[in-house]
Parts: sequence; C-alpha cells; structure tokens
Amino acid sequence: MIASSPVRDSHSPIPQKTIIRLENIFKIYGVGETEVRALSEVNLIIEEGEYCSIMGPSGSGKSTAMNIIGCLDRPSSGHYYLDSLDVAQMEDNELAHIRNKKIGFVFQQFHLLQQLTALENVMLPMVYAGIPNSERRERATEALIKVGLENRLNNKPNQLSGGQQQRVAIARSIVNRPVLILADEPTGALDSRTTQEVLDIFTELNASGITVIMVTHEPEVARQTRRIVWFRDGQVVHSNLTPADLNQVATS
Ligand SMILES: Nc1ncnc2c1ncn2[C@@H]1O[C@H](COP(=O)(O)OP(=O)(O)O)[C@@H](O)[C@H]1O
Ligand SMILES: [Mg+2]
Repeated sequence: MIASSPVRDSHSPIPQKTIIRLENIFKIYGVGETEVRALSEVNLIIEEGEYCSIMGPSGSGKSTAMNIIGCLDRPSSGHYYLDSLDVAQMEDNELAHIRNKKIGFVFQQFHLLQQLTALENVMLPMVYAGIPNSERRERATEALIKVGLENRLNNKPNQLSGGQQQRVAIARSIVNRPVLILADEPTGALDSRTTQEVLDIFTELNASGITVIMVTHEPEVARQTRRIVWFRDGQVVHSNLTPADLNQVATS
C-alpha cells in the first residue's frame, strides 16, 4: 500500500495512513451577540496507530473537537475526512453507521446503563450493528476478559468500583472492533491507582493497532501518550508536542 500522506518519521519502516484530517474547521454556536466560536481554523492530521492526548484550558474547544472527530456533531464550516471519507457531506443515518462501525467512545462518567449487567452493557453496541445474539455474547465476554473483568460479567454497574465501570465502558468501546477510540477525560473520575489501570488498557489497545485519542487535564496522563495536541481559544496552538515538551508548555 502507498502512503497517501507525508511520512513524518523517516526512520519508520511502516507506511503511515492518515485516519483523521481536519481542514480549516470552524464551529460556531449561537448567533449575533451570543455567538461563540468554539473552534476556529482548526487543522489537524492524525495517522493510523497514533496514541494522542488533547490538552488545553477549560473552554478551549477540546470536547467540541472530539465531538466532531467522533461524528457526533458537524463543523459549521471546513472539511473532516475520517479514513478518507468526507464526513461533512454525509446524511445522519450514514454518519451513525460509520460511527458505530469505526469509533469506540469512552467518557468521564462511564455512561453505562444501570439496569443492565456488565455483559449486557458490552453487548449493546452489537445489537445496533445487527450481530446475532450468540456472537454478541461471545465477543462481549472476550472484550471483558481483555480488560480483566472475567469475574464481573453478571454484575451491574452499582456493584462495581469506578475503575471497573470504566473498564466495562472500554470493553463496550472495542466490541465492534473500531479503528479509533475517542476518550473524553476517561480518568477524570478515577483515583491514581485505577487511572493507571485504565491507561494500561489504552496502551495495550494502541499496541494492538487501534488509534487512541484522549482528552485530559492531567499532565501525568498525557505523558503516557506519544503525542500531545494543545488547544487554546478554539485553536490548535501546538499540534505535535512530545511528553518531554510538556513541562515547558504546562508551566509557561
Ligand atoms: N452546545 C453549545 N452551545 C453553546 N456554546 C457551547 C456549546 N458547547 C460548547 N460551547 C462553548 O464552546 C466553547 C468550547 O467548549 P468545549 O469544547 O466544551 O471546551 P473544553 O472541552 O475544552 O472545555 C466554550 O466557550 C463553550 O462554552
Ligand atoms: Mg470538555
């Protein structure tokens, strides 16, 4: 296969493939006096297989950018290509289909259904994907084993710790075998020990080839990713920081 984009690291033998390309993205909420420019002139390229964190002050546009990248929202203007598909041009049902097939989501507050067991929560995305029940059960079990919850299949969320609930949510995010995981402050509600458990799972998923993008406030969390994108006032002010660069940016 021929890489369609410039190869960043000339030492890398693996041809890179662009998975996310944001071109001159604007997102404007409201009109007139109440108008808010949540994103302005955002350009960003992320290659398949990257492990990337998004940082920046509160209100700088991180969640808005993640919602657009995750096909949960559309830009006001500009182009967004996901795996070379022009997302801005898609109808809602097409967008929902792509989202379900290609992207796994993880949120700060887990968003598990309280009346369902861990297994049933993880089976849910496959219901929408039209996968038969026996295969749903098998794949959900496999995903829960992967996150170390083989003994918790039949527990409901209120019988699990915060870290365990987030691991159920991660299992749910991978059952449809996404190419991309988007996590918005996934460790924001966790203590430092369970934060590390969750980060270890992301590191492992990334090592298996899944692209991971994570919003975080915590430098200790961002340091465990390989690339940091920094937002300020709706713009990308640094698109390719390394963990080592972080000290300088965070303190300046
Ligand atoms: N649905 C919305 N309606 C109006 N303004 C919004 C909406 N969502 C976000 N904003 C505004 O857009 C800006 C960026 O918000 P957001 O992307 O949530 O920032 P962050 O995730 O970095 O904290 C903020 O000024 C916020 O108030
Ligand atoms: Mg946010």
